[in-house]
Amino acid sequence: MSSRPKVTVIGAGNVGATTAQRIAESGLADVVLVDIVEGMPQGKGLDLAEAAPVVGHDASVIGTNDYAETAGSDIVVVTSGIPRKPGMSRDDLIATNAGIVGDVVKAAAAASPDAVLIIVTNPLDVMCHVAMKASGFPRERVLGMAGVLDSARFRAFIAMELGVSVEDTHAFVLGGHGDTMVPLSRYSTVAGVPITELLAPERVAALEQRTASGGAEIVALLKTGSAFYAPAAATFEMVDAILRDRKRVLPCATYLEGEFGIDGLFVGVPVVLGRSGMERVFEITLTPEERAAFDRSAAAVRELVAALPA
Ligand code: APR
Repeated sequence: MSSRPKVTVIGAGNVGATTAQRIAESGLADVVLVDIVEGMPQGKGLDLAEAAPVVGHDASVIGTNDYAETAGSDIVVVTSGIPRKPGMSRDDLIATNAGIVGDVVKAAAAASPDAVLIIVTNPLDVMCHVAMKASGFPRERVLGMAGVLDSARFRAFIAMELGVSVEDTHAFVLGGHGDTMVPLSRYSTVAGVPITELLAPERVAALEQRTASGGAEIVALLKTGSAFYAPAAATFEMVDAILRDRKRVLPCATYLEGEFGIDGLFVGVPVVLGRSGMERVFEITLTPEERAAFDRSAAAVRELVAALPA
């Protein structure tokens, strides 16, 4: 046992394994990779451990099928689930992934009762509800990774459009992690200047649209799976903010209790992330138009939550 923090990543597929790699290579935490498939997480864990001498970090990485090895984790990242296949309805996907996420969260929460949960499995906002219920954790320790990814996509598109460094871009995306997400261009900037002052309205609208369908754009190109490099990078940014108590202000799926006028629903909003998880909802004022788009997005999430099996 080292005195490094410990992060469990459940689901050793594309997103999970890439997230484990990022965490291990940062040297920030020891990593336990869990999957239901026998041998696969052990193989990936060993492979990552064998990269350590070359990369130059001392974090340990192991793979397992046994939750006993995840005990005492500071953070549990959940990526396990199945993608939608031809012929499956959205409700089928919800039922299957809700079953998987419910089971793994129950086992992981029992082994690590003080952990912060970061949910990545889709449909994201709904899976956060499942995780909160299965864990019994307070809302501060149940977060969904979506807004960081959606904002990263928006930032990448802004940088490409204006020929500037991604480092000088900033973007805000609110709402559910789906077609109804709300890219907030008024708060999206290059070196502090809103993009609405730098681009024609139709270009702003085009970038917003590309952001909202960013996941689908990758799926259409890959054909056999969904995005994983950017989702893993976004998940790592949340892990880093929490473990290093950075008080980063990042958009995350959070259980709202009256903030933004919404009660009892996971929706993406900016929050302050620190060692105890979601430390504060960072409320901002919305214009009537933004408000309407945000409410539409929240209504779409509410409808999916209602489709959850009891
Ligand atoms: N327990 C543990 N692992 C499981 C379970 C389970 N009950 N059920 C499935 N898994 C594992 C699979 O064996 C697989 O290795 O989850 C992994 C999922 O990996 P991929 O199929 O590669 O999917 P990935 O691209 O990583 O996406 C995972 O993240 O971004 C979201 O929409 C995406 O919901 C999807 C999730």
